[in-house]
Amino acid sequence: MAKMWAGRTEGKTDKIADDFNSSIKFDCRMYRQDITGSIAHAKMLASTGILTSEDFSLIESGLKGILADIESGALQFDMQAEDVHMFVEAELTKRIGDAGKRLHTSRSRNDQVALDIRLYLRDQVDEILGLIKCVMKAVVDKAEEYADAIAPGYTHLQRAQPISFGHQLMAYAMMLKRDVGRLCDASFRMNGECPLGSCALAGTTYNIDRNFTAKELDFTGLSENSIDGVSDRDFCLEIMSALSILMMHLSRFSEELILWSSWEFKFIEISDAFTTGSSIMPQKKNPDMAELIRGKTGRVYGNLMALLTTLKGLPLAYNKDMQEDKEAVFDSIDTVKMCLQVLAPMVATMKVNAKNTYTAAQKGFINATDLADYLVKKGMPFRSAYKIVGTIVGDCVAKNIVLDEYPLEDYKKYSELFDEDLYSEISLETCVNKRISVGGASPESVRKQVKDVREFIDTIL
Ligand code: ARG
Repeated sequence: MAKMWAGRTEGKTDKIADDFNSSIKFDCRMYRQDITGSIAHAKMLASTGILTSEDFSLIESGLKGILADIESGALQFDMQAEDVHMFVEAELTKRIGDAGKRLHTSRSRNDQVALDIRLYLRDQVDEILGLIKCVMKAVVDKAEEYADAIAPGYTHLQRAQPISFGHQLMAYAMMLKRDVGRLCDASFRMNGECPLGSCALAGTTYNIDRNFTAKELDFTGLSENSIDGVSDRDFCLEIMSALSILMMHLSRFSEELILWSSWEFKFIEISDAFTTGSSIMPQKKNPDMAELIRGKTGRVYGNLMALLTTLKGLPLAYNKDMQEDKEAVFDSIDTVKMCLQVLAPMVATMKVNAKNTYTAAQKGFINATDLADYLVKKGMPFRSAYKIVGTIVGDCVAKNIVLDEYPLEDYKKYSELFDEDLYSEISLETCVNKRISVGGASPESVRKQVKDVREFIDTIL
């Protein structure tokens, strides 16, 4: 097919080459950003006298008409077009004639695409922030609801110390809080450098006003080197890195939801709306959604690695390899959005079985540290207390009882410091309620975390 860039060559390329080269099937999703960018560019050209105001009016109304027609479905993308930029420009020229051909003055698809992705990612990051906010709300509400539920906290997946179940949930809220920060940072940096006016790679001889377009498009500054402006995609990588870390958190959380909903734990029940049955085993209730979040984390990491690898050997400035940025970043965005959308209601509707978390906390000697601390508070050095308690735990294991059931006379054989009050000191309630150090596992601390994170959530967007 003959190309808009036909000139030096006849522009007749092989059909297979056309399909291989074309990006419209995936970059068509940036049509709105492409049109917004073109209107800003044309407005700047008119303001500097490079374009007449008549041509600008034609271009502006033409582009707005194209936008409206795409949105209403009246205009379909031409899948034969090379990319969304070519499609919009060709359609404009079809509609308004020569004025349409003037739009590309002092611009290149290289700065155009560098702009479009930034504008697209800006909107998508905002959407993702809104979705993280929903997950955070669900997590925080659940944590508050189960602030008083006692559960075992784990290290090495071995019962370690008693905690409020809400405390464990709030750990995820804190991770998400940092994910929000990372995405905001990346977006802030990206929005600080408008690439428009970098043109093909070397800027332009026209007297353009780059600050005008930057302002028009809500950038806080300009890219300061035209080669860099068109050739780096580090902003995509930053966002994809932030999304990868976010997915790592969602995956860890999902892993726990899967474990907790197993018969071995039975700490939670995921609502029927977010589980599936088995086609053969009638008793099954499978946590597929959580598993898929965990599974999809791999592709978000993969997309990041793919783009890092694509970029690593590219000479400056633009190379067609860079067209590969889009499918990778779009897939990461789509995947993350779906995962967040499913996770929020899944958390909001899950039930915690506080009886089971309590029973689990009663086993595994998770109050052993507290028993050692009891001796320490009565003056014994920690290491000595640790040794004594370890021996007592061994004796309890042999007798198949827990520390709370070990008789006082037996305790006294190890130290005269043991007294009747030890039993209340090592009760699960005491162990949890007393963990009031800042960020500790007590219900009181959980309620404070809930309050702080709620205040943070209100600042998002
Ligand atoms: N579709 C291209 C991309 O996504 C647009 C830029 C093309 N520029 C060029 N010089 N061929 O990267």
